[in-house]
Amino acid sequence: MALVIVEGKSLTDALEEILPKIPRDIDRAFVQALCFGMTRWYFRLDFILRQLTPKPIRYEEVRLLALLGLYQLEYMRVKPHAAVSETVSALGDKLWAKPLVNAVLRRFQRERAHLLALADRDESATFSHPDWLIGKIRKSWPRQWETILERANWQPPMTLRVNLRQGSRTDYLGSLAESGIVAHPCLFAASGISLEAPVSVESLPGFAKGAVSVQDEAAQLAAGLLKLEPGQRVLDVCAAPGGKTLHILESRSDLGEVVAVDIAAERLVKIKENLARASLDASVVCADAANTGTWWDGKPFDRILLDAPCSATGVIRRHPDIKLLRQPKDISKLVDLQRRILASVWTMLEKDGLIVYATCSILKEENETQIATFLQAHPDAREVPIESAWGSPRPHGCQILSGEDGMDGFYYARLTKCH
Ligand SMILES: C[S@@+](CC[C@H](N)C(=O)[O-])C[C@H]1O[C@@H](n2cnc3c(N)ncnc32)[C@H](O)[C@@H]1O
Repeated sequence: MALVIVEGKSLTDALEEILPKIPRDIDRAFVQALCFGMTRWYFRLDFILRQLTPKPIRYEEVRLLALLGLYQLEYMRVKPHAAVSETVSALGDKLWAKPLVNAVLRRFQRERAHLLALADRDESATFSHPDWLIGKIRKSWPRQWETILERANWQPPMTLRVNLRQGSRTDYLGSLAESGIVAHPCLFAASGISLEAPVSVESLPGFAKGAVSVQDEAAQLAAGLLKLEPGQRVLDVCAAPGGKTLHILESRSDLGEVVAVDIAAERLVKIKENLARASLDASVVCADAANTGTWWDGKPFDRILLDAPCSATGVIRRHPDIKLLRQPKDISKLVDLQRRILASVWTMLEKDGLIVYATCSILKEENETQIATFLQAHPDAREVPIESAWGSPRPHGCQILSGEDGMDGFYYARLTKCH
């Protein structure tokens, strides 16, 4: 947890570093559940810890272990005496901290009802989100903010995208049933399957050959919105790790060319791995999408998908570390970056071509307000409405709120270039 809270790494990166060092499957699964759970409930647990320690614990390692102990006592099916003794013994040679953490955890057990009631009177502790983010979400969604925050703490389903070039969804559901994996088709995405319980990707039939990928249903809606046609030149901007690039290629075998651009070289490796797994081909370019001068050959694109870097406030249920890592000042920087990338890729769009602008954010400034500003500044741009059974139409584009119909929070808008 120190890698995330002290060093500011993402939880996914931190676990990629830690988990391979743990030999047994069962211990790896426990550590993963502990880290995700504690991150999800960090703001509630931290409130409780502060009630239990009149003077804040200054040693971060000790504070984090106390939080992990509280998490086990409140949320895990670990025997309480084991949770306390294991947490205290994890303090190792910090002998001075052992009585302190022991006392904190035992007092929590004794005063649990009172402490939880106190937490329920504090907004940040109730929803386990930082105050600034609660404020932003409330401002964007004055009627729905509480439901959004509650659902952001739910465990998301594991959702798959079937590669329809390799077989039908019905056939793949059959293969899952034969493997004893309980699953059902998604409501809106024609290629989507939701699993009853998560499984390792290795146990998914045909995963290694690209028969299926892991992707939330909301993200699976992007490819359909592009209205792809034979021979088209397609640009996927901000493409890594390539979930939507693969989906574009899986949607049609007769596209002219697909170019995938991302600024992060290490993430481009993941696009290449994903393409190789599914035996699909795209031109993969490492470049700053806000600066076309460095890489564009001047040939316009018929279709552009811009899956913009964003606050990721729609996917907090999958990445609870966002609540810890994101800072208020990040939002205006992201809005500016999105504006610059959108203006830049606009110059690469063919007349009558189509751009799909997407974010996994639920904040209006990154979504409908961003598009409104763009339309005002670009008289040659016209919005193409999204007619869908999912999400809610907004003054511009369409918004899915986190957890709505079981999906991640996502925003989509479509723009075309007039003559
Ligand atoms: C939301 S993620 C993309 C997810 C991807 N489209 C998918 O479906 O797998 C946003 C991506 O934007 C990239 N990015 C951020 N700033 C960029 C820039 N200036 N130019 C190009 N890519 C950028 C990040 O490296 C990150 O991979």
